[in-house]
Amino acid sequence: MIRFGVIGAGNIANNFCEAINVVEGASLYAIASRDIKKAEDYQKTYGIKKAYGSYKEMLEDPLLDCVYIATPHGLHYEHMMLSLEHDKHILCEKAFTLNESQAKAVFTKAKEKQCFVMEAMWTRFLPMVQTLKQGIDEGLIGDIKVIDAQLCFDIPVAEDHRVLAKHLGGGALLDVGIYPITFAHIFLGKPQSFETTMTPTATKVDGSNKITYYYENAIAYLKSSIIEKGDTTALIKGSKGYAKVPWFWCSGKAEIFDLEDRLIKTIDYPHKVNGFEYEIEEVVRCLNNQQLESFVMSHQTTLEMMRQMDDIRKVWNLKYPQED
Ligand SMILES: NC(=O)c1ccc[n+]([C@@H]2O[C@H](COP(=O)([O-])OP(=O)(O)OC[C@H]3O[C@@H](n4cnc5c(N)ncnc54)[C@H](OP(=O)(O)O)[C@@H]3O)[C@@H](O)[C@H]2O)c1
Repeated sequence: MIRFGVIGAGNIANNFCEAINVVEGASLYAIASRDIKKAEDYQKTYGIKKAYGSYKEMLEDPLLDCVYIATPHGLHYEHMMLSLEHDKHILCEKAFTLNESQAKAVFTKAKEKQCFVMEAMWTRFLPMVQTLKQGIDEGLIGDIKVIDAQLCFDIPVAEDHRVLAKHLGGGALLDVGIYPITFAHIFLGKPQSFETTMTPTATKVDGSNKITYYYENAIAYLKSSIIEKGDTTALIKGSKGYAKVPWFWCSGKAEIFDLEDRLIKTIDYPHKVNGFEYEIEEVVRCLNNQQLESFVMSHQTTLEMMRQMDDIRKVWNLKYPQED
């Protein structure tokens, strides 16, 4: 049984705690918060064995095998390094780090410590996404010509909230933009070139952004925002038909149409819980196989995604304080 501990008793840690119960070979062993009261509330809600009032204290527990890091992305580097110092395996929320250089340092340290590390990009593990990818690779919609994917929300939060705060890695790209970019990467791989524009917030992070990725025979139109609501259905348009994927980053359902708009296939995999179970299953599978890296969410892929976001931010001249 792999004993998991959660770092950060915030919003998304709830999804992890709900999903882990259905994962064979995993147990929700501990939760750590900077505030013991928050940790104890989580403990009560999810029946967690141990509650800690500091991250370090939990990491010192010799019975803990693997941590799930659910803190703001500006702190992922620090919390992963601390976890590795304590020889713990890691599943870390997206965006994995602030940039490629931090991600590289984490992977180097993990290798030294012989610890497993994986970015919690749950979209890559959804059975719908994997089935759609296989179908498209086998010619379901012909050759991909266009991908259209955006993730735009109006998130009304205070300026010091992690979504807006620069020192915590705020901005649309790292928070939600990573999903359209990942979606394009799953189906089209690495772009040859790109163009991008962005609208800043008062806190000087990207409020909204547009990215166009150019491939040899295809184009991806990508957009993300934390200040304006948008459509959440992605389209993959091919030479023989198209795929419509509502809630493309988190859903179990996709519909395939021919060029005359006739529905020809529905892919439907309802989540067992909330969709987080598949990435947790992958961690357990890898640890049981003594693998230090997932083949689905490899270190190389995380580095590629971080590099793409570094390149995009370079165009906008957006640097995080940790990068000065
Ligand atoms: N996979 C997904 O669908 C998904 C969805 C949302 C978010 N996320 C990712 O998950 C991470 C956390 O997001 P969230 O929405 O859960 O954020 P959140 O509600 O703000 O929670 C983050 C937690 O981090 C801890 N923390 C430690 N130092 C902090 C600091 N200086 N300022 C603020 N919080 C601090 C806090 O926990 P304690 O007070 O308990 O220590 C806080 O509750 C982000 O990287 C985000 O991108 C993923």
